[in-house]
Amino acid sequence: MTAAAGKGLEGVVASQTSLSFIDGLKGILVYRGYNIHELAPNVSFPESVFLLWNGRLPRRSELDEFEVTLAAQRTLDPRTVEGLKGLPAETVPMSALRTGISLEGVYDPDAEDNSAEANRRKAERLVARTPTIIAAIHRIRQGLEPLDPDPSLSLSADFVRMANGEPGTDEAVDALDRTLLLYLDHGFNASTFACRVIAATLGDMHSAVTGGVGALKGELHGGANARAMHTLLEIGDPENVGPWLDRAFAEKRKIMGFGHRVYKTEDPRATHLREMSRVLTQQAGLGKFYEMSRKLEDRMISEKGINPNVDFYCATVYYALGIPIDLYTPLFAIGRMGGWTAHVMEQHADNRLIRPRAEYVGEMDLRWVPMDER
Ligand code: ACO
Repeated sequence: MTAAAGKGLEGVVASQTSLSFIDGLKGILVYRGYNIHELAPNVSFPESVFLLWNGRLPRRSELDEFEVTLAAQRTLDPRTVEGLKGLPAETVPMSALRTGISLEGVYDPDAEDNSAEANRRKAERLVARTPTIIAAIHRIRQGLEPLDPDPSLSLSADFVRMANGEPGTDEAVDALDRTLLLYLDHGFNASTFACRVIAATLGDMHSAVTGGVGALKGELHGGANARAMHTLLEIGDPENVGPWLDRAFAEKRKIMGFGHRVYKTEDPRATHLREMSRVLTQQAGLGKFYEMSRKLEDRMISEKGINPNVDFYCATVYYALGIPIDLYTPLFAIGRMGGWTAHVMEQHADNRLIRPRAEYVGEMDLRWVPMDER
């Protein structure tokens, strides 16, 4: 029996994908051949989803048609809404989202059909409806009735309207849309790999992405954006960063929003989010949070050699946009839904069961002992 791969499968190349590429040493992220720095300033979230699903950028008419198709799919099954209303009041949004996605899978007309055509239809519904589910969760917990989608609005604009009850500014909607694009796909990250494992059993699309939501929820993965914001609020003031970090280092605490399994240099997504954070926090009169972030970053790099990841500056972007902290990770899921669904389609198109082995390190050769002699 060969020895196990490194703990946490570090460095293991588990399979192939043509969706996204990461060079962790050079800090490069590529979606379907396009460097993220090409896409981030120029491409909308739906456009990036089209790219990921089709392997090429859309022409204008194709993008228009794609957006109309998605917009027509935003309305939830009413039984999903009823299910969300029935959840205990203390249910955290990521758990409610996991349940909402799972319920949509129960009611989906293509539920048990894994054909390429059905998978594409389900992927469209999932990307279109994830924002609707999150907005509904947010309304329901405030004792409000969920709002119906408005297909004349873009996906991001409609999310803001459905969540807040009023439209967002163009700038806020654009910023949100850009974060979704930056969250879209990232190789075999934990949640995507979870999706692929489920898909590889020939499990259906909704089962796979429900598993993805569960994996994303953890604070070592998507949950880090909310945790990073709580850290900044706990620090409270730029002057406190030094003493706070001294304590955190002494206690060997992990600083949320820093570090990455693959990137050993600047996360290219953080480059965009840092600048967005600078501009948006300043506009919102919350510049001290950007200042605190920079101080944290400087010391983490100079003393630990650890860079911020995608979640660190996204936290202050969302804070400046006035988004409740427990919706940060659900928003990550809206972006990553485009990636998860693409990976399920890629897996199903050329499938083999994913089934690694375990290196057994337990006892052997024990003999059964009758109950009254143990
Ligand atoms: N704060 C302080 N120290 C850290 C951090 C951090 N955020 N991240 C890594 N380190 C240190 C570890 O303590 C460890 O030090 P040691 O060798 O002295 O014990 C060393 O760096 C290696 O850390 P690991 O946890 O083994 O690295 P791994 O590759 O397993 O973990 C991970 C990567 C989980 C992202 C880690 O950096 C972490 O926990 N970060 C905080 C959570 C976070 O931000 N997650 C979001 C990641 S991005 C995403 O999923 C979208």
